[in-house]
Amino acid sequence: MADVGPIERLRTGIGGFDQVALGGLPAGRSTFVGGTTGSGKTLFAVEFLARGILLFGEPGVFITFEETAQDIRHNYASLGFPIAQWEEAGAHRVSVNSLSAVFTRFADGGLVRHEMHRIDKALTALVWLFTIDPRDGLVIIPLPFLNYPSVPASQVRVSSGITDLDQMCGGGLYKDAIVLLAGPSGAGKTLTALKFIAAGLAAGEPCLSFAFDEGREQLRRSANGWGIDLRGAEESGLLRVECDYPEVASVEDHFLRIRRAIEDLAPGRLVIDTLSALERIASPRALLDFVIAVVAVARQHGITALLTSMPAAPLTPEIRPLIAGELAGLTDVAITLSYYELAGEIQRAIAIIQTRGSAHDPRVRRATIDGDGMHIREPIPGITSVLPGAAALTFPYRSADSPGSRGPQPDG
Ligand SMILES: Nc1ncnc2c1ncn2[C@@H]1O[C@H](COP(=O)(O)OP(=O)(O)OP(=O)(O)O)[C@@H](O)[C@H]1O
Ligand SMILES: [Mg+2]
Repeated sequence: MADVGPIERLRTGIGGFDQVALGGLPAGRSTFVGGTTGSGKTLFAVEFLARGILLFGEPGVFITFEETAQDIRHNYASLGFPIAQWEEAGAHRVSVNSLSAVFTRFADGGLVRHEMHRIDKALTALVWLFTIDPRDGLVIIPLPFLNYPSVPASQVRVSSGITDLDQMCGGGLYKDAIVLLAGPSGAGKTLTALKFIAAGLAAGEPCLSFAFDEGREQLRRSANGWGIDLRGAEESGLLRVECDYPEVASVEDHFLRIRRAIEDLAPGRLVIDTLSALERIASPRALLDFVIAVVAVARQHGITALLTSMPAAPLTPEIRPLIAGELAGLTDVAITLSYYELAGEIQRAIAIIQTRGSAHDPRVRRATIDGDGMHIREPIPGITSVLPGAAALTFPYRSADSPGSRGPQPDG
């Protein structure tokens, strides 16, 4: 009887792919790569061969029905693949680009299409983040294989940058905490993020900040208003601030940028302000995957991270609170900023929803903002809902004086 051991795997060398594919592609067999136009099929095929040559010294053959050999040589030179040079040498790996081009030559087109569709459907069930990077080619982000770091959880507390907030959190944040700060526009998210960075810089830690909501000059001006010299910190090399519209890249590319910056700078602190801006370019599921991946990288590096978000969606209320809830589950500390009205004046409230591994002040407190930053004041009785994503926390706020209401109320 034939030996039926585990299938031997051939490592592709494509970033992250072999981890997802349980070691690589089945050796000595054919693998079908499906995908829509522009999704990266040709790149996968070329890179499969190129990595085989570069990493494992395995020659390859590329058969294409779609592009000229000259185009292939030219298009992939920027990834560091000297194809013309390789052509002088002979083959272990074969890439056929593409099958649809081959199948058009067969008479029973219906049968071929049916089979292709069946395979494609089975494959698309296996979704993960992946992106095509100008420097590294095809990069697969293997979410199902993320591990919690095996290093012990930190007992060290660090300052959030706001003394009153440290007190509410039971004496500062754990050094490896991932903090989610939710709040509507103008509530103080960017302020808290800037103070968080300033505390890291004061402790001599390299800091990394991604601003998706505002430009560098705008951010510098706000920081100056609170006595924080962003420009000086950036020039000293201790701080790296990246301001970009979310639309300039896919959410996968933003993740790659963040991971690369973390690897380059080895920061003690990371800020993303705000996650909500990324909702413009990503589905809720893709955004959640993005956060899972960012949180995993931050945890691997023992970084204190502050992620900000809007509490609920003005346009898609049925989706956003769900995401906000899921985000809160991924993080260690959840803080909510909100508005309420008192005697005709808009006031801010702050509440700590949770702090993993620590006691915290459960009271909803009034918060004020001035030229020094944020100050946390007396507890406010009568606020009934402060959950992230609850409609109570967004404009339009409910009047504290309106009949039957003792503070912000959920809208329904
Ligand atoms: N120098 C200052 N002194 C006093 N208050 C200030 C100063 N600079 C800004 N503010 C106020 O601080 C508040 C918080 O601003 P911040 O930028 O942190 O809000 P945000 O939650 O990030 O809002 P958005 O979602 O719109 O970015 C604003 O309402 C602003 O009016
Ligand atoms: Mg802001």
